[in-house]
Amino acid sequence: MSAPTAGQGKKLVFVGDSGVGKTCIIARFTRGSFDPNSPSGSAGFSNKTIEIPELNRSLALDIWDTVGQERFRALTKYFYQGAKMAILVYDITVKESFDSLKNYWYEDIKEHAEEDIVLAIAGNKADLYDKEAVPEDEAREFAKDIGAIFKLTSAQNNSGIDELFNDLAIKYLDPNLEINFSDNQKQEHKKEEEVQQNNTIKLDKKDVSKENEKQNNKKSCC
Ligand code: GTP
Repeated sequence: MSAPTAGQGKKLVFVGDSGVGKTCIIARFTRGSFDPNSPSGSAGFSNKTIEIPELNRSLALDIWDTVGQERFRALTKYFYQGAKMAILVYDITVKESFDSLKNYWYEDIKEHAEEDIVLAIAGNKADLYDKEAVPEDEAREFAKDIGAIFKLTSAQNNSGIDELFNDLAIKYLDPNLEINFSDNQKQEHKKEEEVQQNNTIKLDKKDVSKENEKQNNKKSCC
C-alpha cells in the first residue's frame, strides 16, 4: 500500500491538546483500529473517502494530524492553509483540555484558518463517562455558540466516530441542510434517563402500594 499523500481530498485538520486522542480517532476512522500504544505524534496525513447516504454523495477527505507539534503550540499557518474543516478534540476527563480548546485552539483557528471553515468539537474518551470532568452541557453550549457540531466520541469503543465525520461532511457539503446535529446524542441520553426515572417512579409506586397494603392488613387484623 502506498503512503497517503496530501492534496487529493478536502483538507480536514485535527487540533487539541496532546493526549486527548486525536491520532486514535483518526486511526479508528481510517483503519478501523485502536492502538493504545501508538507513539505520540506518530501520524501525519490520512486519506479516506466517506459515503454520505443522506445526500447520496461522497467526499474525499485529506486528514491532517498535528504530529505532536501541538505540544509546543507551534502549528504553523501552513498547517491550517486551505483547511475546509476542523475537528477540535478535548478529553472529557481532563478539564484543562477543554479550557485550552476554548481559549487556545479555537482562537488559533480563528487567527490562521479561512473564515468559512466548518467546525466540529469531539469530547473524546466517552467510555470514561464516570470520570467526566467537563460538563457535557457546557461543551454543547460552547459548540452552539461557535456554530460547531458536537459529538461525544470514544476511539476505544468506536462510538460517535462515524457520526462525527458524517455530520461534519454533511455540514460542509450542504450548510443549509436542517439537521439538529448537536442534539441527537443528548436525546439518546435523555431517553435513557427517562427510562431510568420511569422505572424508579414505577418502583416507588409499587413500594407505596405495598406499604399501604401492609398498613391495611395491620388495620384489619388489629
Ligand atoms: P499526541 O499523539 O501527543 O498528539 O496526542 P493525541 O491527541 O494524538 O492522542 P493519542 O491518540 O495518541 O492518544 C493518547 C492516549 O489516549 C493513548 O494512550 C490512547 O490509548 C488514549 N485514548 C485515545 N482515545 C481514547 C478513548 O476513546 N478512550 C480511552 N479510554 N483512551 C483513549
